[in-house]
Amino acid sequence: MYTPQAGIFALGTSSHAYLEFDILDAKKSKEFASTISSIHEPRTTTGGVNFVIGFRPELWRDIAPNHAPPDVEGFNNAIRGAEGFDMPATQHDALVWLSGSAYDVIFDMARSVVHDVAGQASLTEETSSWPYRHDRDLTGFIDGSENPTLLDAPDVALLPEGVPGAGGSVLLLQKWKHKTTEWEALPADHQEGIMGRTKLDSIELENKPPDSHVARTDQDEFGEIFRRNMPYGTVDNHGTMFVGFSADQKRLSRMLDSMAGLITGTRDALTRYTQPLTGSYYFVPSVESLRRLR
Ligand code: HEM
Repeated sequence: MYTPQAGIFALGTSSHAYLEFDILDAKKSKEFASTISSIHEPRTTTGGVNFVIGFRPELWRDIAPNHAPPDVEGFNNAIRGAEGFDMPATQHDALVWLSGSAYDVIFDMARSVVHDVAGQASLTEETSSWPYRHDRDLTGFIDGSENPTLLDAPDVALLPEGVPGAGGSVLLLQKWKHKTTEWEALPADHQEGIMGRTKLDSIELENKPPDSHVARTDQDEFGEIFRRNMPYGTVDNHGTMFVGFSADQKRLSRMLDSMAGLITGTRDALTRYTQPLTGSYYFVPSVESLRRLR
């Protein structure tokens, strides 16, 4: 019985940091993996920190071939969608996602992680995020309504017992910058048609347009995923940090293709108002697999 990394399911935290690293010397990836898997949260019963450690899937296969799913791949190629819409590929070697109740503990722990891996890996992408009006994305819509509950989420997000990588998860991390001025110029009912749900209370529209976001990512068609999205950014430059876990990478990659208009030719209307700046897949191994590296 494998144990998933607890941070995947640690809902309700108000401060997040996503640290993406590139290894400096490819020959020393095992040393790096040993360092990163030795990080631990501050030992306290109050202001604790959750973390999730992920590896570029091909790197993880090199490090732990017997504990890696054979067919998971990094975000190695940009997705060239309909009408010139692009999703860039910005794959890095490893991710540490920290979350907690306040930014001070996240900040301190992030600095200590960067310090621990100095000389082995460089921090190449860093984003912090925070909840907006309890459960809303910066578009103003409630995000996560169709998420599985915490009782169902492990089945959705984790590779099952008996397969290589059991207890691990495939994570898609994608930073989307909103075109806020254009979005906010739309009347609320037009925004609702784009999302496919009502803005105030997130009720699914009866006749949702085929190019609405929820039609393009319909889990009845693509399979279920577990989302931990968060708003990020400044007053002038902000959007959604998409954080999606799945037991099966195909569910995530097919949703992206569908949003880009590559499956039916219909592009997700939401992609006209927000643009992905990054895109990486990480394999998030079980606790037992991580411990083995220390
Ligand atoms: C800027 C980026 C994005 C924003 C603001 C956004 C926002 C939302 C919102 C407001 C909903 C409706 C409520 C809910 O069920 O959560 C939703 C649904 C959903 N989104 Fe996104 N999303 C974004 C990107 C993505 C991406 C990249 C994926 C997949 C790779 C995705 C997958 C889904 C799924 C699976 C649902 C539920 C669909 C269903 O009803 O079965 N979203 N999203």
